[in-house]
Amino acid sequence: MPQAAFDCVIRAGRVGTAVDEFDADIGIKDGVIAAIGRNLGPGATEIDAKGKLVLPGGIDAHAHIEQLSAAGIVNADTFESATTSAAFGGTTTVICFAAQHRGMNLMTVVGDYMALAKKGAVIDYTFHMILTDPTKITLQEHVPALVAQGHSTLKVFMTYDLLNVGDEGLLDILLAARQNKALVCVHAENHGMISWMGKKLVEKGYTAPKYHTVSHPRGCEAEAFTRLIAFAEFIDQPIMIFHVSTAEGVKVIRDARGRGLKVFAETCPQYLFMTAKDLDRPGVEGAKWMCSPPPRAESDQEAIWQGLALGDLQVVSSDHAPYAFDATGKLSAGPNPNFKQIANGLPGIEARLPLLFDAMVSRGRLGLAKFVELTATAPAKIYNLHPRKGSIAIGADADLVIWDPKRKVTLADGMLHDRTGYTPYAGRTITGWPETVLRRGEAIVRSGKLAAKPGSGGFLPRAGGAAAAPLGRLTADMDPARNFGARLY
Ligand code: URP
Ligand code: ZN
Ligand code: ZN
Repeated sequence: MPQAAFDCVIRAGRVGTAVDEFDADIGIKDGVIAAIGRNLGPGATEIDAKGKLVLPGGIDAHAHIEQLSAAGIVNADTFESATTSAAFGGTTTVICFAAQHRGMNLMTVVGDYMALAKKGAVIDYTFHMILTDPTKITLQEHVPALVAQGHSTLKVFMTYDLLNVGDEGLLDILLAARQNKALVCVHAENHGMISWMGKKLVEKGYTAPKYHTVSHPRGCEAEAFTRLIAFAEFIDQPIMIFHVSTAEGVKVIRDARGRGLKVFAETCPQYLFMTAKDLDRPGVEGAKWMCSPPPRAESDQEAIWQGLALGDLQVVSSDHAPYAFDATGKLSAGPNPNFKQIANGLPGIEARLPLLFDAMVSRGRLGLAKFVELTATAPAKIYNLHPRKGSIAIGADADLVIWDPKRKVTLADGMLHDRTGYTPYAGRTITGWPETVLRRGEAIVRSGKLAAKPGSGGFLPRAGGAAAAPLGRLTADMDPARNFGARLY
């Protein structure tokens, strides 16, 4: 018996990256890709991938896991259940949140989420730090210390009563990010419009979940994007705009990028595959489709696809925010809540890749290379996880997913592995399914079973990287050469 050259060989698959597609074997040693070629020597284990696609493990750059909401509800998943669900859906790296609420010490918050992830995660993980209380000590002491520990994205809300940081808070956070070489991710919607519309609708008795969509007027997205971009340009700080939902929002981003600004943008499956009509159901059933921003119209879906095709939007994440349809989650205010009393968010960490594979690869919209780019390579690059994560290359972590491109699966409530108990995509038939999932060379999903221990996922410390580097284009008011010598950075 010849000695195994590799710990594992994935044999004769069709390998796909963000640029290429080719038939090859992949040899894995010590958790990394050691060889890509034809007729590689033996592996201690071998996986036959003939007729299958071998793609990089997905990177989900936006998932709320075991997170405490401002209303005091913890979402349905633990790190173990959410990352198990992610793994079954072909995702091997997740960027989740360490969520500060007002009055909380950011150092303690990050430590607490790190401990939860260390105990439960079965895939690799890293964090965005949510700032809701940008005090001096948070920005001047805690942020620098935490960035140095590898937490290099700050996340802020421009809406939600208890989360939004206001214009001055946002400027303070953009400045702190610039000083610490961190990227700023933003939930950008106009808070006043949402709050005003919510009150008007409830006052007049329009309380069903479908009115949630009306209470986030589409203009509140473009307005907030425009203001945010003006602030980011003013401070010269790169930003990532989360969960883009409208055609007007895409246009604002396109214009900003056309002016050379470092504005990155994300959308999510709910804005590509759902519309506001999904919330129009009897009673409070529509709560299962309630997220913020809400799903919009088919014309918005088209504009977002075009934004992805043209590169104005670079990433598709899940915004997994799972709340069970019971008193622990969506119905925490009672069995008949008005839409303002219902937790926002959808489960999506497992369905993200199959939904996109079906649309992009099986049905051919934008194709395989773009699928890999949007779901793995681009998030790896923007969040500075590349070249370790996000592609198939010698020396990269062997985070690999073997897809059966022909397998048909009809999604149904209760069939996925998160703890929400429902999927907003129930009834959809998907062509193409992730069958075997390797994380750093270990098969963690095989034959429909999980083979990873809670806590076997690893923390990925990150510096801000190229995406977070400012342009160096100082605006006149911030530039000592043009503002009578005022040094503000
Ligand atoms: O509705 C959503 N997306 N809930 C999660 C929190 C957020 O706004 O991203
Ligand atoms: Zn958000
Ligand atoms: Zn979110």
